[in-house]
Amino acid sequence: MTLSTNDIDDFTQTAIQAARLGGSILQDYAQKGFTIQSKGESINLVTEADLESEKAIIRSIQKTFPEHQILSEEQGLQDILQHPIKWIIDPLDGTVNFAHGFPMYNVSIGVEYQGTCVIGVIYDPTRDELFLGQQGRGATLNGTPIHVSATPRLAEALLVTGFAYDIHTATDNNLQEFCAFTIRAGGMRRTGTAAIDLCYIASGRLDGFWELQLNPWDTAAGKVIVEEAGGKITDYAGDSYSIYGKTILATNTLIHSEMLGVLKEVRT
Ligand code: IPD
Ligand code: CA
Ligand code: CA
Repeated sequence: MTLSTNDIDDFTQTAIQAARLGGSILQDYAQKGFTIQSKGESINLVTEADLESEKAIIRSIQKTFPEHQILSEEQGLQDILQHPIKWIIDPLDGTVNFAHGFPMYNVSIGVEYQGTCVIGVIYDPTRDELFLGQQGRGATLNGTPIHVSATPRLAEALLVTGFAYDIHTATDNNLQEFCAFTIRAGGMRRTGTAAIDLCYIASGRLDGFWELQLNPWDTAAGKVIVEEAGGKITDYAGDSYSIYGKTILATNTLIHSEMLGVLKEVRT
C-alpha cells in the first residue's frame, strides 16, 4: 500500500472528527462529574471520561477504517490483522489535571504509516484549539500555520517538562535535570500534559521540552506537529527519536545542542 494525497486527507478528516468527539465527551464529564480509579501507581489515574472518550474515538475511526490497527492508552493494541496504518490514541492526555478540575488536557491522535508518524491531531477542548501536523505539509493551529520560536539561547528560553508516575520510588526521576535546567533557563513550566507541551513547542509558546518514560500515545501526534513546525526532536543522546523510546528532547532547534549538553552533563 502506498499513501495517496486523498488517503492523507481522509485520515486527517477522520482524526479531526474523532478528536473533537473525544473532546466533547471530556467536556461533558467535566461538567457532570465522573468516577476516578488509580491504575498501578496510586497517582496514575483513569477516569470514566478517559474510557468513554476512548470508546467513542475508536468507534468513530473503525466506522471508516475497520481494517486499520489501533493502539490506545486504556485498551492497548487491538490485535487485528497486520496493517501498515496504525492509529495511536490518547483519549485524555492530562488525566491528573482533568481529575482536579485544572483546565489543561486534550485528546491526541497520531497516524503511523509503516512505522512513521505521518499525521498528528491534538485537540484542546478547554481552549477550542486544534493542532494539526501532516508530514510534508506543515503544521497549523485552528487552520493557521504555526512555527517554532526564534529564541536563540537557553538563558532566554521558556522550558517545560513532566514527571513519570513512578516518581515516588524511581531513582532516575528527572529531579536533577529539572534543577540543572531551572538555574540555566529563562523560565520553567509544568503543564501536566506532554501533548500540549509538544504543541506549545510547535507554536512557539515554549522553547524546549524534555521528559523520561513517555508512551507512544503521548507523543505520536505531537512529533509530527513539532517537526512540521520546524522543531527538532531527538532522544537524550541526540539520536533520532522513536515514539517507542524512553527519552525525548523537543526544541525550537536553536537551543537543541545546548539542552543536549546539559542532559549529558547531568546524566554522566
Ligand atoms: C501524562 C501526561 C503528563 C506526563 C506523564 C503522562 P496521561 O499522560 O502527558 O504530562 O508527565 O508522563 O503519562 O496519563 O495524563 O495521559
Ligand atoms: Ca498521556
Ligand atoms: Ca491518557
